[in-house]
Amino acid sequence: MKKIALCVLLGLFSGGAFAAGGGGDLMDAQVDVSDTASLQRGAKLFANNCMGCHSAEYMRWNALPEGLGVSMETIEETLIYGSYQQGDMMNVAMRGADAADWFGAEPPDLSLTARSRGADWVYTYLNSFYRDPDASIGWNNQLLANSSMPHVLWRLQGVPEPTYEEQGGELLVAGIQVPEAQAGTLSEAEYHQATRDITNFMAFVAEPVRAKRQEIGVWVIGFLVVFTALAYLLKREYWRDIH
Ligand code: HEC
Repeated sequence: MKKIALCVLLGLFSGGAFAAGGGGDLMDAQVDVSDTASLQRGAKLFANNCMGCHSAEYMRWNALPEGLGVSMETIEETLIYGSYQQGDMMNVAMRGADAADWFGAEPPDLSLTARSRGADWVYTYLNSFYRDPDASIGWNNQLLANSSMPHVLWRLQGVPEPTYEEQGGELLVAGIQVPEAQAGTLSEAEYHQATRDITNFMAFVAEPVRAKRQEIGVWVIGFLVVFTALAYLLKREYWRDIH
């Protein structure tokens, strides 16, 4: 019996470890979907910088107020451009086919990306853009080589340049850095925070019920504890006469 319990416990812990692994050197996004201030900043950055190309099709605008802790009026005033109807999805005006012509790849819907790629992947991606010395390439990305997405946040971060390292006769990007002369409007720490906020918002969009589920989880555990105590008392009561 003890062995079985041990196996179950080990299984639980190693399951968590497996889920977290498998991404190489990813940065830690420290996602926290209960941090509503971060979600609000992230939503704004997302609406202003990402939704020109990307949609979040599975997210309804009117699902935002509860998760972000703001009123629908605030959402309408700060996030939504153009016409909008109650219950609309966070769709995008650009047609996919046009986008593929312009960028070489269709900007994918980002509703579930924080789950399919993982939040740390998204965060690392947003921190991996650099200017390729090959002008025909333009913006490049250390995590997703030759990504056709431009570095849309360059005004915030500045223009990062790559440093190279030779490996097996091949030049590989070893790191990226923003030279002082090419700094953006944000410091490095502020840019990290901004991209963490966007990632946090994407994690929320990918699973809007997560915060609620965690909240419910606490009650469920509490109920189980109380129930166990009651069951124990009941058992003692039954056995008292038998002894
Ligand atoms: C100018 C258009 C454009 C804008 C604006 C834009 N993207 Fe992209 N994005 C793309 C394209 C095109 C791709 C496809 C890249 C590829 O596969 O080569 C992409 C890919 C991505 C991916 C990778 C998805 C995957 O699973 O491969 C993520 C994540 C992403 N974008 C996030 C963002 C975020 C966050 C913003 C806002 C800060 C943003 N994008 C703004 C065009 C854009």
